[in-house]
Amino acid sequence: MKIAVLGKGGSGKSTISWLLCQYLSQIKKFQTLAIDADHNMDLSTCLGVNPYEVNHFKDFNSEFRQLANMPKVGMWREYFKSSPFYFIYPQTEKTQILGKYLTSVSSNLDLIVLGLGDEEIMNSYKCSHALSAPVKHMLPTLKMENDSWLVLDSVAGSDMVNYGLYFAFDCIIAVVEGNINSIKVAKQLRSLINKQDMKLNFILNKYNSENKFIKDFEEEFKDLIIGKINTDSALTNYDFDSISQENLDNLSSIVTKMQFFPQVEDSYEKLKIFEENKVL
Ligand SMILES: Nc1ncnc2c1ncn2[C@@H]1O[C@H](COP(=O)(O)OP(=O)(O)O)[C@@H](O)[C@H]1O
Ligand SMILES: [Mg+2]
Repeated sequence: MKIAVLGKGGSGKSTISWLLCQYLSQIKKFQTLAIDADHNMDLSTCLGVNPYEVNHFKDFNSEFRQLANMPKVGMWREYFKSSPFYFIYPQTEKTQILGKYLTSVSSNLDLIVLGLGDEEIMNSYKCSHALSAPVKHMLPTLKMENDSWLVLDSVAGSDMVNYGLYFAFDCIIAVVEGNINSIKVAKQLRSLINKQDMKLNFILNKYNSENKFIKDFEEEFKDLIIGKINTDSALTNYDFDSISQENLDNLSSIVTKMQFFPQVEDSYEKLKIFEENKVL
């Protein structure tokens, strides 16, 4: 099961990603792969990993090209000219391909850091889109075995939707909080995701049933809201052992709903068509 967490900056993407990773790996005992795909690399830090001390998946570029029999340089759309290259998670001795990019966080939890927040990128005028090419092309052929889960924490806003990052996800979530801008971004994301023939679901964060924006949002999108998370100081402190019982119950209901989502089968084809139709 592959989950992507999107939304406006500050809405709680990294916090909800962290919470899902901890809940899935510690409480449900599912093997879980966290992917930190944001420039700020907050998910890594929340999980107790120093993102500057691990290998960055953006550097998988040349190895991936070699594995997929692609030219060393040039457009990634060349990838679709030969047969797909498959990845497997969890890793076994036979399938060590992702090996050096996986950081073990705890017994059931691994982390991949894209590394888009490297100093060289943050302080230059370089566009970081191309650095997401390895993960974008890996996700559709990454087989999640043994009921394992993947949780990807996204860059804020809608940029990566237009880049085609989300075709492989069984459940795409926007985190929404009760303010006008968070709701505006959630609606923008919904329309862009819908244009790609996918569905966007919502988690209401820092939930307050009295909030006017949230009341209206709930009314309009009740079928797409898969759960709520309350404001909780244990979340601000990233202290999973102290999470409130109410939030654990909320998480249980969110994860149960996610388990009923059909798993996407045709994302390699979808990405291929998307890339072929792109106007350069
Ligand atoms: N449910 C919550 N309860 C308490 N604090 C929260 C909650 N959700 C997010 N926060 C806090 O709000 C801030 C923004 O959250 P963050 O996850 O970093 O947002 P994003 O990744 O979307 O930019 C952080 O300080 C985080 O600790
Ligand atoms: Mg974040």
